[in-house]
Amino acid sequence: MTSRNTHVCPVQLSGSLDNRIRKWLQNPQKILAPYVREGMDVLEVGCGPGFFTLDLAWMVGNSGKVVAVDLQEGMLEQIREKIRGSEIEQNVELHQCTEDRIGVSGSFDLVFLFYVVHELPDKESFFSELVSVLKDGGRIYMEEPPFHVSKREFEESLRIAGDAGLRVADRPGRFPDRAAVLEKA
Ligand SMILES: C[S@@+](CC[C@H](N)C(=O)[O-])C[C@H]1O[C@@H](n2cnc3c(N)ncnc32)[C@H](O)[C@@H]1O
Repeated sequence: MTSRNTHVCPVQLSGSLDNRIRKWLQNPQKILAPYVREGMDVLEVGCGPGFFTLDLAWMVGNSGKVVAVDLQEGMLEQIREKIRGSEIEQNVELHQCTEDRIGVSGSFDLVFLFYVVHELPDKESFFSELVSVLKDGGRIYMEEPPFHVSKREFEESLRIAGDAGLRVADRPGRFPDRAAVLEKA
């Protein structure tokens, strides 16, 4: 079912998404380590100001690539500033999407979705689009915040992902968050 989105995290709140306290609570390297390897092609949708993007880029290295996608140019601009002139500038491709279409080409080993699925207006078309860019054997990592997403809503997102051709491969223990790893069914 499609519904218009009124809950997009505003650029003005990006400071709350990238700071030292969050890094301590949600260490990106630790969260990413089980899923990211050198040379991977990673798609990150809803990258925000890049809390995970920079670590993803370091972890995939020069032989890999991170395509970081967000609805808001203001978020992408912050990443652009953070990587300008750095070693990882070449590993990161920034892409502004529309509300209901990611619009990237290529195929990916990992799709990383952190605190974004609940902001999407049309999860059905979103997961279908992801299936079309996920490599065979590729994985989708999805994590949602408990204060915005009830257990029932999270399960509903997984059901929609299932209808799009994905299956739950793992349920990482990320209390109090809700997390799942998806693969092509
Ligand atoms: C709560 S923030 C999380 C940002 C980042 N993943 C993190 O954990 O720091 C959600 C992000 O998703 C983006 N977003 C919302 N709706 C989107 C859509 N339809 N397509 C792509 N990105 C979207 C917002 O602009 C925002 O940057």
